[in-house]
Amino acid sequence: MTASNLAFRASLIFILIGIALGMYMGASQNHAPAPAHAHINLIGFVSLFMIGLFYERRDGLNRSKLAFWQVVIWTVGSIILNTAVALLYFGNPQFIVLAPVGEVIVAISALTLTVIVYKETARA
Ligand code: HEM
Ligand code: HEM
Repeated sequence: MTASNLAFRASLIFILIGIALGMYMGASQNHAPAPAHAHINLIGFVSLFMIGLFYERRDGLNRSKLAFWQVVIWTVGSIILNTAVALLYFGNPQFIVLAPVGEVIVAISALTLTVIVYKETARA
């Protein structure tokens, strides 16, 4: 699978979960998990979809292992970070230890993306 297709597919799972959490907040008037909702939608959906659009316009890069794994790592980091934040804001402080793990994974993927984008845009 290309990096962009993986990014598009994963991003839609995040938005479905993000919207479900938003609807839960609206219905229950419990806005405690708002930070998890915000980051599921923004790291999970918006960022990943935009990353997919960048790769989709560059066929060689889109088929590269580096781009594919950058998306995989972003997705895994986002799952860990958002699960930790959601559990934390639902009143389980012990899960805070998972948050830095997810943060570092997302940050590594963001650094990788930075290198990829800088290399790719240096030519034009
Ligand atoms: C049907 C869909 C959605 C519902 C029902 C919903 C509902 C909510 C609710 C109830 C809050 C808490 C507000 C507060 O406590 O101040 C919230 C916050 C937020 N939502 Fe959504 N939301 C939806 C979709 C989205 C989407 C698609 C995005 C981004 C792409 C998004 C981004 C945010 C952000 C960033 C916040 C945090 C705002 C802040 O902390 O001030 N939401 N949402
Ligand atoms: C590893 C990456 C990230 C970490 C560790 C992080 C951490 C945080 C923290 C600690 C807050 C304050 C939450 C609170 O007040 O309870 C916050 C708020 C916010 N972040 Fe992030 N963030 C990250 C990535 C992003 C990205 C990529 C976006 C957008 C594309 C984003 C958008 C926001 C927004 C809109 C808020 C305010 C909404 C809210 O308070 O719920 N963040 N972030």
